[in-house]
Amino acid sequence: MCGLDMTEEMLALAMANRDRAGATNVEFLKGYIEDIPLPASSVDVIISNCVINLAIDKPRVFAEMHRVLRAGGRIGVADVVAANDLSPADRAERGSYVGCIAGALSFQEYEEGLRQAGFEEISITSTDEPMPGIFSAIVKARKRSGIRARTALSPQLPMVQKSCC
Ligand SMILES: C[S@@+](CC[C@H](N)C(=O)[O-])C[C@H]1O[C@@H](n2cnc3c(N)ncnc32)[C@H](O)[C@@H]1O
Repeated sequence: MCGLDMTEEMLALAMANRDRAGATNVEFLKGYIEDIPLPASSVDVIISNCVINLAIDKPRVFAEMHRVLRAGGRIGVADVVAANDLSPADRAERGSYVGCIAGALSFQEYEEGLRQAGFEEISITSTDEPMPGIFSAIVKARKRSGIRARTALSPQLPMVQKSCC
């Protein structure tokens, strides 16, 4: 299991929590979610709590999550999401970027961003509305599995009838 954060402070806290819990299969990396320091197709599941709304370049974050996940891999993200009819100015009026409000995507923007990065089975479920038009939400999605992608791309491939040996 591997955790990622860009600050020494959060990494130190995470390592202290790991050690207190006695977990021996967890390591932490310093880095950015816009440039995840892991190879392609090396991750089964990505979980994240209240980080993506802080990123400036969200399409790049979605592309990076998609790159590092193996085919069929999943994301489960807790994040702040805005109502579809809230403009960027409306969002900034309700809270700052570092307060996790101004950088929130709308439900529609979140779904479109994940879809454009190649995710499917996308669901965004609000769990709370701490202020009007601003929601806590659970975001789930899956990277298309290789088998289904091939079927979808090549539905007309001929069947091989002969056995080979
Ligand atoms: C609101 S805190 C959430 C921390 C943790 N996930 C939790 O639930 O306690 C946001 C964290 O995201 C990290 N962060 C923000 N932008 C980041 C980025 N672009 N790449 C990596 N980490 C980032 C910050 O350093 C901070 O530790």
